[in-house]
Amino acid sequence: MTTDTAAQAAYVVAALLFILSLAGLSQHKTSRSGVVWGIAGMVVALAATVGLASRSITTTGLVLIAVATAVGAGIGLWRARVVEMTGMPELIAIMHSLVGLAAAFVGWNGYLDVDAHLSGSLLAIHHAEVFIGVFIGAVTFTGSVVAYLKLSARINSRPLTLPGKHVLNIGALVAFVGLTAAFVARPGMGLLIAVTVIALALGAHLVASIGGGDMPVVVSMLNSYSGWAAAASGFLLANNLLIVTGALVGSSGAYLSYIMCKAMNRSFISVIAGGFGTPAAAAEEGEQGEHREINAEETAELLGNATSVIITPGYGMAVAQAQYPVAELARKLRERGVEVRFGIHPVAGRLPGHMNVLLAEANVPYDIVLEMDEINDDFAATSVVLVIGANDTVNPAATDNPSSPIAGMPVLHVWESANVIVFKRSMAAGYAGVQNPLFFRENTQMLFGDAKQRVEDILRGLDALDAPVPEMAGSR
Ligand code: TAP
Repeated sequence: MTTDTAAQAAYVVAALLFILSLAGLSQHKTSRSGVVWGIAGMVVALAATVGLASRSITTTGLVLIAVATAVGAGIGLWRARVVEMTGMPELIAIMHSLVGLAAAFVGWNGYLDVDAHLSGSLLAIHHAEVFIGVFIGAVTFTGSVVAYLKLSARINSRPLTLPGKHVLNIGALVAFVGLTAAFVARPGMGLLIAVTVIALALGAHLVASIGGGDMPVVVSMLNSYSGWAAAASGFLLANNLLIVTGALVGSSGAYLSYIMCKAMNRSFISVIAGGFGTPAAAAEEGEQGEHREINAEETAELLGNATSVIITPGYGMAVAQAQYPVAELARKLRERGVEVRFGIHPVAGRLPGHMNVLLAEANVPYDIVLEMDEINDDFAATSVVLVIGANDTVNPAATDNPSSPIAGMPVLHVWESANVIVFKRSMAAGYAGVQNPLFFRENTQMLFGDAKQRVEDILRGLDALDAPVPEMAGSR
């Protein structure tokens, strides 16, 4: 068997491992094995690529590859170990930026180092690949850098609203198409520089003009773009595995974006077109009436007397790392005969599945963790809802107020239950920057403080209850 045949066979194995990895990652129970399949696929892919490269490069080149791999793997391991769950979105965004940068470099390299055997239509196709690869790569690069800056709060998450922003975006796309035709007909460095600059500006502008509330969709769209950027590099490098892997990432990222768009009631097409930044809709700032407060002991008593409880966690649970006491609370209440379930909004937290990961980490049984659509009709028949560090995802303004920046976004109908207890530290707005009328409803009480400490206080309060009342007493 030649090195080439062996490498191609290894690529097929790696591609299958990546598909297995994606299948594994789609379910909580199998997600760990999904990660293992992915790592195995990457090891096979790297070994095969280095094996292929070893035929045509010097020992110094191979040493350089080994050093680069070791440095890259070292940085990756270090970042993955130290990153907090709450910092994952920005880490993912910065990773996407590296994929985009790599694709742009591969494109430039494809221009500077053209295979001498190419001619006629094959050469034209090569030049089109160069141009498209540089464009997608550069858009992904700056778009991801701006997403990183917004997600890590290094820049304001408000949407940038330049006059005629849609015209600017469309103009950039039209210029790209025109320049591509010109480049294929008559390649020149000036055209490649021009498309690089346009793509860098377009990527930054597309993401800058998107408001904080829409960032989840942006993260998954950039995920998809990075996949297509990798696939474009695969065509340039004639590397089948890169094409397959890029297409897998590109299409799964696009599908995830579609799911996110549905969850946030955004048009998928307008997201792809990048023109969906929230305009300066009137954000309702400030207090909207009186709010009532409750303390941990009173909450423990209310819970002890409840028949059914739904816990809706959000980003604040992740910040407070409250998942362990929350899991303990659910366990204790269930022991008392209270029906306890969790209601998970698709964009609760800062990345898809954020809450599910935290609850799984704290060993909350999967069968009591329900998606928004599965639980939304049940709030009306529920004694107590505990909103633990969630805000935008339980905001009734999304359904009641057409001028709200989050109007139309499906939310958990927590306000329909008999009692709502909101755990947070202040009356501050959530991620989308809008005030939440839920806090001022008659059946809502605020439990201020760090969510972890407050849940621990409730656990002590439950222990102190003299006679647990398993049957309904006072609540619904
Ligand atoms: P948010 O609307 O961000 O609200 C989080 C709440 O947690 C805030 O009200 C905050 O209030 C409270 N909080 C923070 N730290 C706390 C602590 N230590 N103890 C108690 N409370 C604490 O969260 P959400 O409801 O989960 O909504 C998610 C938002 O993030 C949506 O707007 C979504 O679009 C956006 N987003 C989601 C994603 C994905 S993919 N899931 C990615 C990026 C952005 P205080 O500060 O007063 O405590």
